[in-house]
Amino acid sequence: MQAIASEYDDNMTASHSSAHDLYIPGLAGIVAARTAISEVDGLAGRLTLRGYSVEELAGKANFEEAAFLLWNGRHATPAELTRFRADWQECSVLPQFTLEAVDRIARQETGLMEALTYVLSSLAAAIAGEGETLRRIRISTSVPEIVARIYRLRKGLPSETAFDAGVGPGRFLGQILDRPCGQKEARALERYWLTVIDHGMNASTFAARVIVSTGSDDLAAILGALGAMKGPLHGGAPGPALAMVREIGSSERAERFLRAKLDKGERLMGFGHRVYKVRDPRAAVLSDTIDELAAAGVGDLGLLRLARDVESVAVRLLEEYKPGRNLRTNVEFYTALLLSSLSIPEELFTPLFSAARVAGWLAHCKEQRETGRLIRPASEYCGPFHDHWPETH
Ligand code: ACO
Repeated sequence: MQAIASEYDDNMTASHSSAHDLYIPGLAGIVAARTAISEVDGLAGRLTLRGYSVEELAGKANFEEAAFLLWNGRHATPAELTRFRADWQECSVLPQFTLEAVDRIARQETGLMEALTYVLSSLAAAIAGEGETLRRIRISTSVPEIVARIYRLRKGLPSETAFDAGVGPGRFLGQILDRPCGQKEARALERYWLTVIDHGMNASTFAARVIVSTGSDDLAAILGALGAMKGPLHGGAPGPALAMVREIGSSERAERFLRAKLDKGERLMGFGHRVYKVRDPRAAVLSDTIDELAAAGVGDLGLLRLARDVESVAVRLLEEYKPGRNLRTNVEFYTALLLSSLSIPEELFTPLFSAARVAGWLAHCKEQRETGRLIRPASEYCGPFHDHWPETH
């Protein structure tokens, strides 16, 4: 696989123009970029971000520090961090034109991801004259702010909270729950954001890199990545994963329920991964965070117990139905549980995932731009050839 990838990478010439021997469905295993941002080791079950394990990053960093590290490949100096944080805070104030777009879309019946995409595109005017870093910060801070505001308006809440909501994950949570949120809850959400901030060449990151490789801008790349993120095989899975656990309802029903799904050829949401062939390490970080919240009395203990029973039955049945595929729990399963412990409604799961991943996407945009290389794979034509256009009837 490695040999194919390197041949395809830089030395593709007219004499190699037949893609027939190179066709890999879904580009599985193809190395599409060299990156220093994150490494996903699917066999060891290890995720490394700028050299740090996901456990270390999620345990010690805060989100702004991690974003700086991802974008710049080094830690911020204390002075840089102070400035960065001040910009971060300032940029969470949305421009007037964007606020108007929030008001407009809040009154329409659309999914939150569609609404987010619509409103985010309105940032183009505001960021046009800004420097690179400020643009990245504004895009990053705007995503959760837009989502929270649309959500509040649709729930009949005033767009501004009556209390000081603060910044970052605590601000988001306070806006959604409409009450100042505790430090433990804010930190749990921040840990979630750190856990999913970047993840190798996943579908949305690839989409972002393809867009930037054409010479297009970061905002366009993020809008494209959001489109990829929304799909149920990528960032759209946690809602259905939680719905499945709720529908199962009790541990005794798990086996019969899951067997019925697998007998019908359906997929179990929250299980399986293109790269991980062992348990997704992010699932473990989130599982620990859920336990910490539970110890502080936050979350639904009954639901957690049920989910863990469902997990063990699902993994056993997947091995029985798909032997040797190593289908294990992925990040989405525990995402669903963590976010529901924090009383975050399901419709916000995918937008929240996006709010974290936007920092990773922006790091990839920068790295891709630096390569100066257009991503343009080949395709293998398998349609018919006709000699003549038919006579018009
Ligand atoms: N339930 C049942 N069967 C599964 C599952 C699952 N969750 N996942 C894979 N399989 C089966 C497939 O049907 C296929 O069987 P077959 O070869 O007999 O037809 C085999 O395992 C291999 O599956 P692929 O789709 O080729 O594996 P791929 O690597 O492309 O899929 C994916 C990865 C899309 C995540 C898949 O496991 C899946 O659909 N999972 C459920 C959705 C989900 O949880 N998505 C979130 C992923 S994490 C993230 O994106 C952040």
